[in-house]
Amino acid sequence: MISKNMKELVKNNSVIREMFEEGKKLVKQYGKDNVYDFSLGDPSIEPPSNVDEAIIESLNNKKSHAYMSNSGYEDVRTIIANSLNRRFETNFDMKNIIMSVGAAGGLNVVLKSIIDPDDEVIVLIPYFMEYRNYIKNYNGKIIEVKCDENFEPDMIDFENKITNKTKAIIINNPNNPSGIVYSKNTINKIADILTKKESEYNKSIYLISDEPYREIVYDGIEVPYITKYYNNTIVVYSYSKSLSIPGERIGYIVVPTEADDFEDLIEAVSISTRILGFVNAPALLQRVVAKCVDLTSDISEYKRNRDVLYNGLISCGYECKKPQGAFYLFMKSPIKDEKEFCKIAKKYNILMVPGSSFACPGYVRLAYCTDLKIIENSIPKFKELIEEIKKYEK
Ligand SMILES: Cc1ncc(COP(=O)(O)O)c(C=O)c1O
Repeated sequence: MISKNMKELVKNNSVIREMFEEGKKLVKQYGKDNVYDFSLGDPSIEPPSNVDEAIIESLNNKKSHAYMSNSGYEDVRTIIANSLNRRFETNFDMKNIIMSVGAAGGLNVVLKSIIDPDDEVIVLIPYFMEYRNYIKNYNGKIIEVKCDENFEPDMIDFENKITNKTKAIIINNPNNPSGIVYSKNTINKIADILTKKESEYNKSIYLISDEPYREIVYDGIEVPYITKYYNNTIVVYSYSKSLSIPGERIGYIVVPTEADDFEDLIEAVSISTRILGFVNAPALLQRVVAKCVDLTSDISEYKRNRDVLYNGLISCGYECKKPQGAFYLFMKSPIKDEKEFCKIAKKYNILMVPGSSFACPGYVRLAYCTDLKIIENSIPKFKELIEEIKKYEK
């Protein structure tokens, strides 16, 4: 018999599985070009050709396939540290970098390393729902902080939610699902509140920054490099989105030397990598990302998709904020019950994720990492959809 915890997770998983199955069924029935599936955050852009070349080159060099240090290859970690230093004027070396199995693996390793049972971990609404599961994996307690109408954190609520049990806060920048980028100003406010609370409770509170979308930003917007704003920061990065290789499972964790208990923390992260069963990040992929360290796939395609979708939705009469980064658009549901809205949208072969899946009811998430043609063809359908909703409201 499976555990009670897993029973609950299996039950909840069926919502996501249902949507996936629904998409497949609709494609079979109506053809790929007539289904407007905005549900999944799976990169639609090809990886840069350098990725395949680096895989072949790494294989031809017949380097070792053996176990290694749990933190990963030292030369790869040095290359990543140097790249960060060049791009963000930081001061890392290999000891600050631990290779991980994507951001999902990295977040679990970090949370395993710092959470004691009943420790509280703060998340900012709207947030990537897996955080809930990851925190629960280590018997932590998730605490949600409200946001304003621009999806910026409510700083008063944030300050009020910090207690002597707070171990960490997870932020995600650029943000899934809202598409916003937290500015220097927002990061400074978060850092100031954390610093004040650390001294009030005389303890370390970690700021975990989940950054798989770091490079996917538009209109020249800057994503502040978080370790420069607060000492007890841990960055979790992934190549899933920037190089379009989510199935390959590769990323890294940054622990800055300034973090409290740095030596212990680094050792804990390395041991967590081992005992969670990852042992080390995939060897081949470590060599590949080292060769592609400053590259991304062609982000301009996401920008074009964003513009077509955003302008199209606005022209139909929908309300949404223009995304600044990632590949998600978080749109206000024209009716209060966004789940009902998603249900009606299915009649037009439009698939979206309800905002309640991100603790933010009243909104829907559209992942625009899809074919431009699908987006263009979806706009008249969105128009029909809002017309139906208007009639329904009368
Ligand atoms: C906000 C956020 N964090 C983490 C992840 C996990 O990414 P990875 O493929 O690197 O594990 C995702 C994936 O969609 C995400 O959106």
